[in-house]
Amino acid sequence: MKIAVLPGDGIGPEIVAQAAKVLEALRSDGLKIELEYAHIGGAGYDAAGDPLPDATLKLAQQSDAVLLGAVGGYQYDTLARPLRPEQGLLRIRKGLNLFANLRPALLYPELASASTLRSEVVSGLDIMILRELTGDIYFGQPRGIRNLENGERQGFDTMLYSESEIRRVAHVGFQIAMKRNKKVCSVDKANVLDTSMLWREIVTEVAKEYPAVELSHMYVDNAAMQLVRAPKQFDVIVTGNIFGDILSDEASMLTGSIGMLPSASLDANNKGLYEPCHGSAPDIAGKNIANPLATILSVAMMMRYTFAREDIAQRIEGAVRKTLQKSLRTADIAEAGMQKVGTDAMGDAVVAAL
Ligand code: IPM
Ligand code: MG
Repeated sequence: MKIAVLPGDGIGPEIVAQAAKVLEALRSDGLKIELEYAHIGGAGYDAAGDPLPDATLKLAQQSDAVLLGAVGGYQYDTLARPLRPEQGLLRIRKGLNLFANLRPALLYPELASASTLRSEVVSGLDIMILRELTGDIYFGQPRGIRNLENGERQGFDTMLYSESEIRRVAHVGFQIAMKRNKKVCSVDKANVLDTSMLWREIVTEVAKEYPAVELSHMYVDNAAMQLVRAPKQFDVIVTGNIFGDILSDEASMLTGSIGMLPSASLDANNKGLYEPCHGSAPDIAGKNIANPLATILSVAMMMRYTFAREDIAQRIEGAVRKTLQKSLRTADIAEAGMQKVGTDAMGDAVVAAL
């Protein structure tokens, strides 16, 4: 298992260090794991003047999987767009053709009261959000800021989806649903956007190949509401890049904290990049208070999807669960009567439970 490790910025290095401990524990157990580190994001800019240095992309291409922390920091906010940390992330997703982004919103029973929603609304929650990751308004051309004749400036972006892009992510959605509760909800804005009209048409077509799966469609504004009103109605949500970006942040709060949400970004051959859904949280970087569980759970997803080792995935998830059962909590999920621990101690506790 050759794994490229890209800690990135902000809390990235701290949380990735905990996930690396888990990988090292698995290695001393006999798994053939090889870790190689490289820079991305602001760290890439600092080291090589590029948020995705050539060496990093090359390493990622040569590896079986990539473990990534997070990118972004205040000190990079004034850089020109191509040099910004986020570009490193977007370019590696595109460069590796990672079009299928799996973001599971799973509520650990131990955290039922950590959610801002009433526990009966979220208890037992298990949703898979499948976000298309290499198309849409994120990558559509043309885009820019232009000068109008009347002297003011105008910003513009282009929302784009081709049939083949919609089709391949729809297939992934139905295949995931086949292994779950066989329900797919496709989220779009087909009442307004042409892109969404095509999206809906193609998803409906693909659904015919999966007669066992029940397909429904929902407008994104309604989906945003339904996610907090009655989230358990969903099994698999499949949606485009920008809607998925927004809905997955929303869904994370159902689980208590965005600090709990892992993700997998896969290409057509299950090569993947694994990262927590949260960002670099520069305000708490270096303080040893960030929650490393989303990153550790991302390693579980790596074992499941890239290495087809469901047994190890479950072992890691079981260790996380055990740690939560011991009432250890980082600040973001802390509740009265629980033992508040730092990033490092949380990582150690998971390794011990493993
Ligand atoms: C995410 C993040 C990224 C995105 C940013 C950092 C570019 O919000 O992974 O959800 O918008 O995709
Ligand atoms: Mg996001």
